[in-house]
Amino acid sequence: MTNPTDKLAVWQHLASEAGSELLRAVRGKPQIGPRDLKRWRERFGVEETAAALDLLNARRKAKRKFPDRRDLLADPQGVEQATSALVADHKAKRFAALGPARIHDLCCGIGGDAMSLAKVAPVVAVDANPLRAWMAGLNADCDSRCADVTTLELRDEVFHLDPARREESADRRRRMHRFGDYQPGPEFIEDLRRRCPTGAIKLGPGVDFAELPSPESTELELISERGTLVQAVLWTGDLAQRPGERTATCLPADASFTAHPQPLREPQEPGRYLYAVDPALERGGLLGAFVEHLRAAHTSVGVVHEKLGLLTTNDRLEQPLLTGFELHRQMPYRQPKVKAALAELGAGEVEVKTRGGAVNPDEAQLALRGRGGEADDRLHPQAGPAEAGLPVHASRPIMSVPGARNKIHPFAENDKTGPPCDGPVLERAACAGKRRCRLRVVAPPHCSYTFANSRSGRLSSMSAHLA
Ligand SMILES: C[S@@+](CC[C@H](N)C(=O)[O-])C[C@H]1O[C@@H](n2cnc3c(N)ncnc32)[C@H](O)[C@@H]1O
Repeated sequence: MTNPTDKLAVWQHLASEAGSELLRAVRGKPQIGPRDLKRWRERFGVEETAAALDLLNARRKAKRKFPDRRDLLADPQGVEQATSALVADHKAKRFAALGPARIHDLCCGIGGDAMSLAKVAPVVAVDANPLRAWMAGLNADCDSRCADVTTLELRDEVFHLDPARREESADRRRRMHRFGDYQPGPEFIEDLRRRCPTGAIKLGPGVDFAELPSPESTELELISERGTLVQAVLWTGDLAQRPGERTATCLPADASFTAHPQPLREPQEPGRYLYAVDPALERGGLLGAFVEHLRAAHTSVGVVHEKLGLLTTNDRLEQPLLTGFELHRQMPYRQPKVKAALAELGAGEVEVKTRGGAVNPDEAQLALRGRGGEADDRLHPQAGPAEAGLPVHASRPIMSVPGARNKIHPFAENDKTGPPCDGPVLERAACAGKRRCRLRVVAPPHCSYTFANSRSGRLSSMSAHLA
């Protein structure tokens, strides 16, 4: 294996005028075969060819995160770990408001964050990996150093820190949610905060909040990008604008809500509209506070269920943190019946939303597709009537699970992308004394469940929530 310094020399060569012929050759070949590889290796060198392939692969991967940076210097893994330009710009705005003389971007990787930070202040980007430090310096056009950040003697500097996650564990994805597994870890972070109180620590959105330091003096922000939860940021010192509170931000709408988490009020029956809440709001535990905030103007707002992440109201709400649907009908999820109901509503293509793997949305979408609705009046959320000002769905049935009065044992299973699953909530009020009843099962989206009927011992994987 090439040592990191040799690898850096290879990449430096590739990025120079001398490497451009190899890059042109590789870029010009959409289908690369063994003969091409052999020719390039003989002519340009084995390591150089590998680096060129890596770079072009990384640039392909980077198109979504960095649409304006076709010249990015990166390896594919560096792109995967990088903060996107959209999220990095959002974070950089908070630094800009502070007007720091300089920002240290610690564990800078290829410079995803540094590129945005450098627009608001001079940046010193630091990474233990010489190749990454070099890439960040060129990508962000900033000062960059190869160093182990735990050896730096910083004092009263403003910092951004993006610790790496330990990856060697067998149960890698689960471990990534433990703050104690970040590298550098909690001890270094505490020490850094003592020396440099003001900064931002980037975390995975699945990190266990209970392990985070100083909740009363820091602000935790959860950020979603195009509907997907992408990161959490622990703001400290002067960058914590609302210490002790949490913020949910959705991008690119650039809408934020900040509050102390508070309990949800009692669930209520669905009203005329249903609103799927942004995952940042839900993960931040801010649903209860958000409902109270909305209730100041819309008294009918409430949650459909405490674990469903779904609000309901009789009013239309214009809120970037919510995606609204008009409720046409509520019914148990029996595919033929749902299909018939959709057909009655003139549905063509339908978009099925589900939680907890209740149904396979691709299969259900195919099965439920009707004959109505050409492209223009597709019944999916983006295609609501303009005058309604709301995306409207043809049908948003709440799925119910047929049960019996026998005891039903749920077994929670975490798909390892979120925090531990507590176990589902079974709404069984309607079951009392009945031979057959329906259970509404709700749970966080990353959890799925299997149920065993205690009398028959039969196992069924009915973990349904929402269609
Ligand atoms: C998640 S990546 C950073 C991504 C970066 N924020 C971006 O947007 O491109 C974490 C980086 O931390 C670096 N790293 C891990 N431990 C380090 C240490 N003790 N000192 C310096 N860098 C370290 C790794 O080399 C890796 O590049």
